[in-house]
Amino acid sequence: MSIRNLDDLLAEGVSGRRVLVRADLNVPLDKETGQITDDGRIRAVLPTLTALRDAGAAVVVCSHLGRPKGAPDPKYSLAPVADRLGELLGAEVAFATDTVGESARKAVEQLGAGQVALLENLRFNAGETSKDETERGAFADQLAAFAEAYVDDAFGAVHRRHASVHDVPARLPHVAGRLVLREVEVLARLRHEPDRPYVVVLGGSKVSDKLAVIEALLPTVDKLLIGGGMCFTFLRAQGHEVGKSLLEEEMLDTCRDLLARGEGRIVLPVDVVAATEFSAEAAYDTVPVTAIPADRLGLDIGPRTVSEFAEAIGTARTVFWNGPMGVFELAPFAAGTRGIAESITTVKGFTVVGGGDSAAAVRALGLDESSFGHISTGGGASLEYLEGKALPGIVALEQ
Ligand code: 3PG
Ligand code: MG
Repeated sequence: MSIRNLDDLLAEGVSGRRVLVRADLNVPLDKETGQITDDGRIRAVLPTLTALRDAGAAVVVCSHLGRPKGAPDPKYSLAPVADRLGELLGAEVAFATDTVGESARKAVEQLGAGQVALLENLRFNAGETSKDETERGAFADQLAAFAEAYVDDAFGAVHRRHASVHDVPARLPHVAGRLVLREVEVLARLRHEPDRPYVVVLGGSKVSDKLAVIEALLPTVDKLLIGGGMCFTFLRAQGHEVGKSLLEEEMLDTCRDLLARGEGRIVLPVDVVAATEFSAEAAYDTVPVTAIPADRLGLDIGPRTVSEFAEAIGTARTVFWNGPMGVFELAPFAAGTRGIAESITTVKGFTVVGGGDSAAAVRALGLDESSFGHISTGGGASLEYLEGKALPGIVALEQ
């Protein structure tokens, strides 16, 4: 990769210098308690932060959380993240209650060598996500004024043309952090030189979200296994009745076309778990895809599908998995996702879990993270990378 990375910055010496780290600390919070339910993204940025602290940098961390609308909203405060980050680092993290205001300025000024401050949610400022270059630029100027160098370790946000991702690096010496470097290396390997057979497992609810990546993968994969809510539009395109299952009518022609072009490489479920309603208390049965009752909706792939998919996965030298196979958050519909995840852990080759829901599923189901080759922290970002799109955050680092 033609990008300078953290080692280049460390080699120049950062002792006593202020370094701004853009992290993706957009972690899921429990709706009732506000507690962090999965701290994977916080842990993923620790290597970069620790290396900077050890080298004596004064580390200013910034991130977004959720999608507040350009103004402060306590629901989306990074305060609980500051606490968790401090616990994981084993060091105090000074938390600024604004992003570029008085509190932030003070926190940054008081920061000594090896110390860490976290700024409040970037998206509390309209400039962060603005489509207007001038407005974004003005916010980027304020952020850039806090530091002498910029490290992008927010892989989950590199597909966003936002001030902290795209415009700050134009204003400061900039490098990729350890996480961004690793993510890009892994995904480049998948895109350009996967060991074969290369098997991709896709799930999640909508075909329309995955269309671009399916198009991009179709010429290169040996097998594309499709589960999750999106499988029902494919099954319908094949002529099956899908009852009350998720269906994107407007995607039917597209699915037919993909199935034809896939020439047997696109593999669909043979059985599904069909329930009376979207609820853990619903009545449900496993049914073949040829006999989904009209009054039921499919909420998971069935056991025969799990073993057929597992067999294909077992032959693979490279596996990429993005998107749950069913509604794994509800116990009766978790077996498909668990079965596929477990089969991926037995693969002898290189395995990659896409970010977002699939990474969360690995942790929520209590699977051993170290039995996967790589668990990406970026859902949208990893898909867009595999689609071959230019990612604003990566482009900015290359310049
Ligand atoms: C994510 O969780 O997808 C990333 O943090 C990016 O967030 P966004 O989709 O709200 O831009
Ligand atoms: Mg997203």
